[in-house]
Amino acid sequence: MVDIYEREIDYIRISITDRCNLRCVYCMPEEKIECLSDNEVLSYEEIIYLCEVFSKLGISKVKITGGEPLVRNDLSYLVKNIKEIDNINNVTLTTNGILLEEQIDSLVRSGLDAVNISIDTLDEFTYKNITRIGDIKKVIRGIDKALEYENLLVKLNCVMINEINDKQILELVEMIRNKDLSIRFIELMPIGVGKQRKGVSENEIRKVIEKKFGKLNQFNESLGNGPSCYYSLDKFKGKIGFISAVSHKFCDKCNRIRLTSSGFLKTCLQYDKGIDLKKLISEGKSQEELIESIKNAIYNKPIENKFFEIYSHENFEQHIMSEIGG
Ligand code: 5AD
Ligand code: SF4
Repeated sequence: MVDIYEREIDYIRISITDRCNLRCVYCMPEEKIECLSDNEVLSYEEIIYLCEVFSKLGISKVKITGGEPLVRNDLSYLVKNIKEIDNINNVTLTTNGILLEEQIDSLVRSGLDAVNISIDTLDEFTYKNITRIGDIKKVIRGIDKALEYENLLVKLNCVMINEINDKQILELVEMIRNKDLSIRFIELMPIGVGKQRKGVSENEIRKVIEKKFGKLNQFNESLGNGPSCYYSLDKFKGKIGFISAVSHKFCDKCNRIRLTSSGFLKTCLQYDKGIDLKKLISEGKSQEELIESIKNAIYNKPIENKFFEIYSHENFEQHIMSEIGG
C-alpha cells in the first residue's frame, strides 16, 4: 500500500527473537541483558498469521532478522510457511552466520531466496573485539556453504567502526573479487549502544576503495529489496553496496515497515511510533480490525529519520538494535 507521502510499502523486516549468540559492540551491551520471555515473543503461528494479514496490504517481501534468527528453533518451518502465503514471493534472512553452515541446507529447501551475512572483518582477533565472543571460522564456513546454492543470493554486511576495523576495508572488498557475492558497507547508526561508537562514512570508504582498485562504477540493477546503491569495480566479479542511513538518507524511497520480536509494528526504525499487534491479537481482534489498524499505521509512517538531531526526544527509539532487527 501507499503511505501519506506516496511511498509504496511492500517490504517488512520481522525480528523473530531479541536473543543473539554474539554481543557486537555497536549493537548490544556486554553485561547481562534482559531478553523477552518465550511467551512475550511472537510465536511462529502468530508471525505466519500476521504475514497473511500484511500480504493483503501489499507486502510481498519478508526479511527475517533478530537478534540472531538462527538461534530460534526450526526456522525452516517459518520460512516454508511464509513462502507459501499468496502474494509473498521473496523471503530472505539476515544472520551473523555463526549457525549458518548447519542450517542453510534446510532453509534453502524451504524456499529461502537470499541471505545477508554480517561480517565486519576477516581478522580473527578483530572479530573477537567486535563480537566479543564470535568465532570467525564458523562464519566463513557458513558463507562458503551458502555460495554453493545457485539460486540463493548471498550478500555480506559490514559496519566500519573508527579505530576498530576501519583499516580493513580493502581486505573485505577482496572477498568479492572472484565470487558471485556482493558486499555492503552499512553506516553505523546512532541507535542504542551504537551511539557510543564512531562510524566511517560512505565517502571515506569510497575514497579508500577507489584509491586502490580504481573507479566505482554505478550499477543500476537492483540486487535486493533494500536501499543499497550498488557499484561495480573493473576485474571484480561481485558488487559493492552502500547503506548510508546517516550521510545519504534514503527515507524518501523507504519501502519498509518492521515487526519487533514482541509483536510491535514499527513504521520507522528511529521512532517508537507504531502498534502493538501481539496485544491486538490477544484481545481477539478480527482480521478486518487488524487490517484497519495496520493500514492506519502505515499511512502515517514518519517522513524521515532524524539521526542528526537530538537523540533524547521522547518519540525517538530508545531500544537497542538487537530488539529491532536492524
Ligand atoms: N548501525 C548500523 N548497523 C547496525 N547493525 C547492528 N547495529 C547497527 C548499528 N547501530 C547491523 C548488523 C547487521 C544488520 C542487521 O544490522 O551489523 O549487519
Ligand atoms: Fe547479534 Fe547482529 Fe547485534 Fe551482532 S549486530 S550482537 S550479531 S544482533
